[in-house]
Amino acid sequence: METLKIEDNRKIIDVSGMDEVKDKYDLDLYDKLLAKDNYALITNIEREDIPAIAQYYGGFVRQYGGNEYVIKPTSKNYSANSSGFLYPHTDFNEKERTQLILGLYTVETDKYDEGGYTSVANTRHFLESIDTDTFDYLTKNEFCIISNKHLRQIENSHYVGPLLKYNSLMDFEFRFSYNFTMSLTDDKKWKVFRDQFLTWFNENKLSIKIPRGSLFLLNNHQAVHSRSEIYDQNRELIRYYFQGKYFG
Ligand SMILES: [Fe+2]
Repeated sequence: METLKIEDNRKIIDVSGMDEVKDKYDLDLYDKLLAKDNYALITNIEREDIPAIAQYYGGFVRQYGGNEYVIKPTSKNYSANSSGFLYPHTDFNEKERTQLILGLYTVETDKYDEGGYTSVANTRHFLESIDTDTFDYLTKNEFCIISNKHLRQIENSHYVGPLLKYNSLMDFEFRFSYNFTMSLTDDKKWKVFRDQFLTWFNENKLSIKIPRGSLFLLNNHQAVHSRSEIYDQNRELIRYYFQGKYFG
């Protein structure tokens, strides 16, 4: 697993051991859960297996910010420490297409009762319940989402397009952020929708303190997720982005 093949700038790496981890952790089963629910939790993962698991999900994607160009899957190039409170969001708001799978691996949990929760909800259920008017608003309007400074540094342009796109019934893309850094906040209809969505999210979310040694997988294009405050200085959660299979 030490031997890595870097494919030019496509941010994809090849590592050995994919077949072994596929069987060891029954990844095909979790992949089905991920497709159905937008998220899945795999427990008792050995950290050294993560590069091979990443390979199953199409390879690592660089994190933006920090040491972008260190080529090693165990370095900060491919992972980042995840910390602090976050409002509900999906992760690809500013880009046309980006990493499909977010992996959160817990090295150490927050030992305080209130701290260190990740929340997520199966957005598909919500989108199936919206009325025609809201559906049209989300799918037929063109929104401009401004890239943040990290993304601009790595030459990502702004996203222009609808907040909701269906490629098929199972494959949809939903752009959502409670605090979009863009003019959506002036849009009355957006605020109404946002608050309606948040009410649903709070009533339907799964809140989990990801157990030590577990990998929590989220579909980054679909699963709206949030994070509570962290109270424990020793809590350590590593964030990975995986490319996703459809990039082939
Ligand atoms: Fe996120």
